[in-house]
Amino acid sequence: MDQAAFSFSIEPLWKHTGAAIRGIDLSKPVDDATRAALNQAFTDHPVLCIRDQKLSAPEFLEAMKVFGEIFPQHNSRFAVPECPAIHYISNQDKLEDGSVYIPGEGYHTDHSNDEVPPKATVLHAVKLPKTGGDTQFVNMYEAYDALPADTKKRIDGLKARHVYQSRYSKRKLPQLPGEKAKIATKSVIHPLVRTHPLSGRKAIYINPIRIEEIIGLSEQEALPLLDELLEHSIQLKFQYRHKWNSGDVVIWDNRCLLHKANGDYPVAEVRYLYRLMLKGERPV
Ligand code: SIN
Repeated sequence: MDQAAFSFSIEPLWKHTGAAIRGIDLSKPVDDATRAALNQAFTDHPVLCIRDQKLSAPEFLEAMKVFGEIFPQHNSRFAVPECPAIHYISNQDKLEDGSVYIPGEGYHTDHSNDEVPPKATVLHAVKLPKTGGDTQFVNMYEAYDALPADTKKRIDGLKARHVYQSRYSKRKLPQLPGEKAKIATKSVIHPLVRTHPLSGRKAIYINPIRIEEIIGLSEQEALPLLDELLEHSIQLKFQYRHKWNSGDVVIWDNRCLLHKANGDYPVAEVRYLYRLMLKGERPV
């Protein structure tokens, strides 16, 4: 890509995963060269942080169309009232049992219980705690590449059944309201190793909250394998930990990352971010 064709700067945040972009105002329309450069940057860096934005919910919705089509949200309970296509992440909501709900606490990839899961998720920081509340990512390309050859051979070709909430999940998810409750009764089958449609790289595709079984394996075979893959993947060397700055827009690639939130700050300090997802492809 010819650097002169677009005006933003890009610098790596970490050796294998994040990059930060400066010098672009997403509240304004972007031209074709900038759109292409942003999308190329997102293929090259599965976590992209666009600094110094101040977007209302409708502006955020409009701006993110630069990366693709909006994925319809599953749980309308978290819709932002003035712009329901945008949801929020907040530490101020409670679960049905009255406990504080920190959305996304525990490694996962978004909506893998969908036939065609979202390729990306985007957050825009509106209000942050003084410290803490980082988002952690693990790079599942790097994790796959580092697997022993015999493990690669074992898992290439395996498929897993994903549901809204796996009976093995250690994390509780909120109930889905009304019509959407049907989603919780469905299951889909996805490969355990998927190939990214743009980079062509292979990534381990697991989800501790959603995988209900590995097709063709007994529970006694599947659970240790899933544990082994998770333990391998979340090693520090495959992680990037994003420390939020006010105004950050962070887009990440669900096809080659796991991510998790951290509720490691006083509950009285509000953490509030706008959130949306972008439509993806059927994993192959
Ligand atoms: C999420 O899992 O989508 C939330 C991540 C975060 O709040 O850091």
